[in-house]
Amino acid sequence: MAMIANKCKGTIVTVVDLNADRIAAWNSGNLPVYEPGLDEIVSQNRGKNLFFSTDVDEKIREADIIFISVNTPTKDYGAGSGQAADLRFVESCARGIAKAGGGDKIVVEKSTVPVRTAQMVKEILDSANNGYSYQVISNPEFLAEGTAMADLENPDRVLIGGDTSEEGQVAVEKVVSIYANWVEKERIITTNLWSSELSKLTANAFLAQRISSINAISALCEASEADVDEVAKAIGTDSRIGPKFLKSSIGFGGSCFQKDVLNLCYLCRHFGLPEVAGYWEQVIQMNEYQKERFVTRLLDSMFNTVSGKRLAILGFAFKKDTNDARESPAISICRRLLEEKANLAIYDPRVSKSSILSTLGWSEEQAEGRIHFCSTAEEACDRANAIALLTEWDEFKELNYASIYANMQQPAILFDGRNLLNLKSLREIGFRAHGIGRD
Ligand code: UGA
Repeated sequence: MAMIANKCKGTIVTVVDLNADRIAAWNSGNLPVYEPGLDEIVSQNRGKNLFFSTDVDEKIREADIIFISVNTPTKDYGAGSGQAADLRFVESCARGIAKAGGGDKIVVEKSTVPVRTAQMVKEILDSANNGYSYQVISNPEFLAEGTAMADLENPDRVLIGGDTSEEGQVAVEKVVSIYANWVEKERIITTNLWSSELSKLTANAFLAQRISSINAISALCEASEADVDEVAKAIGTDSRIGPKFLKSSIGFGGSCFQKDVLNLCYLCRHFGLPEVAGYWEQVIQMNEYQKERFVTRLLDSMFNTVSGKRLAILGFAFKKDTNDARESPAISICRRLLEEKANLAIYDPRVSKSSILSTLGWSEEQAEGRIHFCSTAEEACDRANAIALLTEWDEFKELNYASIYANMQQPAILFDGRNLLNLKSLREIGFRAHGIGRD
């Protein structure tokens, strides 16, 4: 929304939320989300044509176009628990819009939703019987965290799906006209509602599948002395395959990939397609296998026990340049290491202590003496038996590993879960260094 405000100076954008603390943070100098470049865009436009408010009903009434941008987590109760998307926030937005009234409106699904959700939104809006007419549009978001501003400024495509009726097409064109302020027309794809909704889940499923595919090959590389980065480069130069999203790692994380693939599996089963569901479930299973494999290799290299040993954890975010730790692969790896009775010294340049504790499901009291929260990488590595590098922060490339090595217990072990470092130089220093798919 900040980017829309920035690019469409004649349009008033108001972001509303029921959570007053969040809105206060958006109105302050300390935004609740860390994203490179976002602070500048917000501060340049806030108070001009970009506003943050808790006055939900009033702002709905005033708006011509409403973007539903609430979260759609995996359901953790009742039917479909563990797979289906929880749509209660989307539903309550639709009900809120219907109740607020205020005129004819275009309602845009920005949240990631299962195919056919627009039907539910439509039915709720139509049953309001308030004399106003509503058009529902699907406009999924493809930005990635950490590169959000560049992705929004210069998207590969903008996808807009709408009803094929005449009124539906008018609404589609209205939404197209917003993006056309800065995105070339050729990159704005319009489709029917269901294709747009399904394309979002499919795009994330394909991206996640690429990571699981290269991670599957990484296991074979370790067994065969091939190097997964070399294999990725060799296959990525085939223009039909392409070079992106072939970086082998400890597994994908983030709030989207797992949730969306699970949701896709749920939809397939719902529509009576268990074979298709089974195919996509493998993407998740491979991701779990990759995380567990990392822990097993670490344990093997530490004489099968980490009990009482100090392990430095470098990075907790699910990727670099974000403070987001949701579904980070670091969570299950740290949990497993804690189960094995290791003591962890965690350093991440952006993820807060409270976020680490809450994602691990540990209280401050439980963490006492078992988890140390460090303010530098050097502090985390001090007297450690091993280092596990779990997020590819740039600063980890620049550390003085010779001096880190000198302050560690011997033999000093390093596991690079992101293939960020040069293993050969680390070995020259004296580290027993390991990567993913390249030992
Ligand atoms: C992902 C998609 O890339 C976006 O297009 C989509 O809009 C977004 O989900 C969403 O649905 O909201 P995001 O989760 O922010 O974006 O981050 P990604 O860059 O896709 O990374 C996801 C995970 O995959 C990270 O843990 C990352 O480290 C891992 N990854 C990525 C790899 O292990 N290897 C790669 O080659 C690329």
